[in-house]
Amino acid sequence: MCGITGYIGPRNGIELAIDQLHRLEYRGYDSAGIAFPQNGGLRVIKSEGKIARLESLLEGEKTAAFTAVAHTRWATHGKPSHDNAHPHTDCTGRVAVVHNGIIENYLELRHALQERGHAFSSETDTEVIAHLIEEQLEQDLVEAVKKVLPQLRGSYAIAVLSTVDREKIVVARKDSPLIIGLGEGENFVASDIPAVMRYTRRVIVLEDGEMAVVTRDRVQVMRADGTPVQRDPMEVTWDESSAEKGGYPHFMLKEIHEEPRTLRDTLRGRISQDGLVAFSDLSLYPDELRGFRRILITACGTALHAGMVGKLFFERLLRRPVDIWFASEFRYGDPIIDESTLAIIISQSGETADTLAALRACKEHGATTLGIVNVVGSSIAREAHHVLYTYAGPEICVASTKAYITQLAVLYLLGIYLAQLEGRLSNEEARAMVHEVQSLSDRVEQVLKGEEQIIHLAKQLAPSTCFFYLGRGYDYAVSLEAALKLKEISYIHAEAYPAGEMKHGPLALVEPGVTVVAFATQPSTFEKMVSNMKEVKAREGFVLAVAPEGHEDILRHVADELIVLPPVHPTFAPVVSIVPMQLLAYYIARERGCEIDQPRNLAKSVTVE
Ligand code: AGP
Repeated sequence: MCGITGYIGPRNGIELAIDQLHRLEYRGYDSAGIAFPQNGGLRVIKSEGKIARLESLLEGEKTAAFTAVAHTRWATHGKPSHDNAHPHTDCTGRVAVVHNGIIENYLELRHALQERGHAFSSETDTEVIAHLIEEQLEQDLVEAVKKVLPQLRGSYAIAVLSTVDREKIVVARKDSPLIIGLGEGENFVASDIPAVMRYTRRVIVLEDGEMAVVTRDRVQVMRADGTPVQRDPMEVTWDESSAEKGGYPHFMLKEIHEEPRTLRDTLRGRISQDGLVAFSDLSLYPDELRGFRRILITACGTALHAGMVGKLFFERLLRRPVDIWFASEFRYGDPIIDESTLAIIISQSGETADTLAALRACKEHGATTLGIVNVVGSSIAREAHHVLYTYAGPEICVASTKAYITQLAVLYLLGIYLAQLEGRLSNEEARAMVHEVQSLSDRVEQVLKGEEQIIHLAKQLAPSTCFFYLGRGYDYAVSLEAALKLKEISYIHAEAYPAGEMKHGPLALVEPGVTVVAFATQPSTFEKMVSNMKEVKAREGFVLAVAPEGHEDILRHVADELIVLPPVHPTFAPVVSIVPMQLLAYYIARERGCEIDQPRNLAKSVTVE
């Protein structure tokens, strides 16, 4: 996520806007910039890299700017670079915009603006906003912004400066957060509360579809159509550390609760108006995609587990072999790769050494490589022939949660897209699947509402010293990820196993004190899973069943505890069934007093082999 800050008042706006940026650094970024009025125009200074580099460019700046907007960029559209850093300006230099979010229709807006003679200086979606405001900017910045907002599809939090209305910052938000800090004779704008906390604890949180006109001694909140809104400020009582986590005790819990939004962000702009998958950001052409005889998926850890769901989904839809490889094993397996192979490389960080090595090996063998990556401009994103980004935003906790969810979303869309291209799905069937994928963010929101039950379960299960996670098919793939979550943050030994395999040995380990989590989201294997639960109960193991609503009567007689999921298509159940497991791992770790965000022995990005 990008970071927006702004100041208007009697003090040095440049210093205060930059200082606020420092308080947003925890969000991760790749470039930074600032805009402020100077000599009747707007001065814009920006740089790739850290805020310190921006500050070095500002050294000796004599301007005493009383107004400024600043920005840290987490790249989504356009690589990290000076030109793509915000603020972005219009052709005349009278408007400067900083933005957090994704403008879905930016390409069509950009083309139309270029046809009307506008010259662009960046690859970003944001720059279209500056040029659109330019076109409306007679003498009133507020009116200009009001006319532009309805043209934007997607998500935005923006702060706008202009030479036309020098004593104002105009802000607006839709699906991306924006707050206004209220000072005495001065006001602040920012993406998040930590930015303003050292200056004020009185904060107005803009709601979706609202905008505001901020001067040094007044804040007018209104609907995008100008209807005034009465919004009382809130008093922030957090300390700075918890404010960075949005009030959550750990980044992990914050990032789990961000999952509905990150799902929506990852799907944004990838579903056409007629409900089919439309990857405007995929440079692989249909004929190329049809030509691949085999698909290979390689990754590490959580990303590999997402890939296992992708393998099952692709094989069922495309009826072609899909190999999956631990990237760390890849080079020892001498996998069969040639020009007819599509190699899908999944990585949140885009820097995992094993995965990067596998990518390079695939390229050496002539495969076409497609990265599914969260960090724009990362090594894997740059070295893969093609890339589809997940839009999970910065994932701070070492244990990956929201990135996994968005990797699944991209894999589902990619599978549907490939099946559409190959005529294996009618448009009607594809639309139905797309609709299911679009409903997942609501399903995840429903699961998050059941958090209290998970907290209670965690207290009950925290003393357990051995966990098995069992499933079949998609449920087995999810079991692997659920087990990893528990292991890496609670330090309890947890093992995922194909449920049908328990009787071939591991059942010998089941005894009182052993907890078995059994996933039963797949109708085709439900009865077998009930049998597995019974065989565990017969050996006095503790059974926690995870299943969609509708099976309570049976499962309450078989399992000790039951997590009921909202109704979900079995194929897409992994996105929903993993969420209570992420929460369970979190709350068990908290019960056990573990560190959680930075578990022992682990790193967020494993850049060594
Ligand atoms: C997952 O919770 C772990 N942090 C780890 O397994 C991680 O998924 C793995 O190291 C791969 O990282 P990447 O997605 O950044 O390549």
